[in-house]
Amino acid sequence: MKLPHHLTIKNGHLLINGQDCVALAEKYGTPLYVTSEDRVVEQFESYKKALGARYPKVQVLFAAKANGNLALIRALAAKGAGADVFSSGELQLALDAGMAPEKLLFNGSSKTPADLKLAVEKGVTVSLDSLDELHQLDAVATEAGKTVKVSFRVNPALEVPTHPKIATGLATSKFGIPHKEIPAAYKEALACTSILPVGIHCHIGSQILDVEPFARAAEVMVRIAKELTEMGVKLEFIDLGGGLGIPYHHDTDPAPTPEDYAAKVVPVFKAGMEACGITPELWVEPGRSLVADSTVLLTRVNSTKKAHKRFANVDAGFNLLIRPAMYDSYHEVIVANRADAPLTTEYTVTGPICETGDILAPDRKLPEVTAGDIIAVLDAGAYGYAMSSQYNSRPRCPEVLLHGTEVALMRRAESVGDITGTMERPPWQK
Ligand code: LLP
Repeated sequence: MKLPHHLTIKNGHLLINGQDCVALAEKYGTPLYVTSEDRVVEQFESYKKALGARYPKVQVLFAAKANGNLALIRALAAKGAGADVFSSGELQLALDAGMAPEKLLFNGSSKTPADLKLAVEKGVTVSLDSLDELHQLDAVATEAGKTVKVSFRVNPALEVPTHPKIATGLATSKFGIPHKEIPAAYKEALACTSILPVGIHCHIGSQILDVEPFARAAEVMVRIAKELTEMGVKLEFIDLGGGLGIPYHHDTDPAPTPEDYAAKVVPVFKAGMEACGITPELWVEPGRSLVADSTVLLTRVNSTKKAHKRFANVDAGFNLLIRPAMYDSYHEVIVANRADAPLTTEYTVTGPICETGDILAPDRKLPEVTAGDIIAVLDAGAYGYAMSSQYNSRPRCPEVLLHGTEVALMRRAESVGDITGTMERPPWQK
């Protein structure tokens, strides 16, 4: 199987950043998320380089929903990244990680009054999803005696080749304002007391393996930019969103790079901006393509069973990685302690959760597996831990971060006490 360069095989063991996955599993226990900080930084730098080589004003915002660990966000902040934040929690994490408020975009289709207040208080640009939200934000900012910078999220009505649950710019999606209604929305924003419209934003979907749809989205955005500029809107940024996919099927999926993305999208963007006579910043919001392949989820085989087929029952399930259950997503799996053994036997790798759908990897050819083996689930860094739960009252596992030859916990394991700790005993049970 093709592996990215931070994953290697030595003496039959899988290594990440040069660290033996089996030794990490012994030291920290399983299940265990292990992330290469170096890989995340490398992916971030490749976006900066690919876009920066083609356009002078570029801002890469990490989509913090993909991986909410502060250590990772801090590593990106240190390299100059901003963030797309989708909740007050993500906003606070980004600020705590050291990101400047002007490098943050507060997205979201259903913000609370408290979210809007926090955005105004912290001086963060808000991407608005409705006119209702525009007027609520105007009221909050007026009350605070501040002016708030905004963009509207454009719904470009574009079909994209991805799972229907993660296509976000269809005409029927819940996100954004239909592109035809956008000029009217900016007109309304210009008339507000405390609103300064300075950007436009879109995000067409996630896990898109073809760069063509991003160019189509850029065309829509460029058209809108022209109309808005003519209306007198002074655009400071145009945010094309995230969405670049990764090759979860290592040997067969296309593997578009930030370079491929930039080569396709920037010329459209640049020509459009020249036609408008403006040079706003170009913002992008990658999540998955920055962090997915940086991480393996290590899980131990508890038992094997031969029923109508062979099962390898492991200690991580959809409580820790819900993508296979939720989107039928494919993740490569490797037996980390026998990583170069021939793949002789078909197994379905199942988690410990009391649900038939708790399958991490169906029908995979592996070496013969026995209890105690360590299975590495690859490409688990995006929407992995971030979407985890405590279902079946299972405390979440720890996360380890690798940096050069250094290894450290970036999140400790939860205990059952962490689960019960937020629970209250009603007075009548005392
Ligand atoms: N910007 C906005 C406004 C978004 O909604 C998203 C993702 C991104 C950027 C980052 O997209 P990315 O580069 O990661 O594709 N849980 C699903 C993915 C949901 C994506 C939600 N929005 C999964 O596991 O596939």
